[in-house]
Amino acid sequence: MKIAVTGANSSVGQNLLEQLKSNPETQVVAGVRNEKAFASLPQAESIIPQKIAYDDALSLQAAMTDADCVIHLAGILIETKHSNYASANVAATAAVIEAAQKCGVKHLIFISVVGASSESKNAYFRSKGSAEKLISDSGIAASILRTPILLGPGAAGANAIVGMASSGQAKVLGGGHYCMRPLDIDDLSRAIIKLIENPPSSVVTHELVGPESAPYRDIISRTAELMGKTVEVGKVPVLLAKVGAAITSTIKGGGITPTVIDVIIQDEVVETNADAAIGITLTSLEDTLKKIISAGN
Ligand SMILES: NC(=O)c1ccc[n+]([C@@H]2O[C@H](COP(=O)([O-])OP(=O)(O)OC[C@H]3O[C@@H](n4cnc5c(N)ncnc54)[C@H](OP(=O)(O)O)[C@@H]3O)[C@@H](O)[C@H]2O)c1
Repeated sequence: MKIAVTGANSSVGQNLLEQLKSNPETQVVAGVRNEKAFASLPQAESIIPQKIAYDDALSLQAAMTDADCVIHLAGILIETKHSNYASANVAATAAVIEAAQKCGVKHLIFISVVGASSESKNAYFRSKGSAEKLISDSGIAASILRTPILLGPGAAGANAIVGMASSGQAKVLGGGHYCMRPLDIDDLSRAIIKLIENPPSSVVTHELVGPESAPYRDIISRTAELMGKTVEVGKVPVLLAKVGAAITSTIKGGGITPTVIDVIIQDEVVETNADAAIGITLTSLEDTLKKIISAGN
């Protein structure tokens, strides 16, 4: 089997490639935008690093030639001077779909987010919803995976939790009362591999979240406890944070914006968790927290 991965150097991509490399029968074309990123990819004979550009259709087609499945991981929450939702989340997805159509790819896997909607007032959720719509309308069978905050070694969300748990005094948005259902990145990779092995015949949207819902402030306290530390969780008023973010992101041309703050403080709620339908067993939140702590040491 041959698969192509976009954004292979992302946290999810690195974790997925690490899990895929134990199966030498699966050849993986690992698409990244910059040759410097080759160094961050797991090394194995079955993993072929390849430079791709989303405005260069031939480079995408070269990566996807003969691929049974394309896993589209490239995407952002935090905009920068060089990368915004329109380019990273929507235009990149459109380019991947066009190349996949040209190459006759039979199965696309796309990582979206819980809350994605092309009708959302929030620009991030809207961009992910628009990307989902492009995939649904592509005529290619697809697995859309809506995920919550992802936790694993090196993931931005994990670094933030461990950093705050270690700080003794953490200040979080609104006191951190919003509920999260963190998903272990290892579990996401396992789900992706199950979906590669069991391709759907049409477009299927799965909402895959972690096994436990907990307020963000409790997740920080539990992490501190597991580290043998104590932490006092205080509050940054959301309105104040948004005003600060609006000013700073305008000056810097990116970073945390009021849009990102609205994403962070939204409760992560799903109707049905897709773990059983996909056929994976989820890691407990406690075990995930232990993993990110030991990776941070
Ligand atoms: N992390 C989470 O908590 C979370 C939650 C829900 C959904 N997701 C989704 O899961 C996927 C992987 O997330 P991640 O956290 O592992 O990503 P990540 O580590 O932040 O990496 C982002 C990836 O997107 C690429 N990228 C950035 N701007 C781009 C652009 N304009 N055009 C094309 N590619 C661009 C980056 O390439 P360069 O290195 O070349 O910039 C990199 O490969 C993303 O689609 C993300 O939206 C993540």
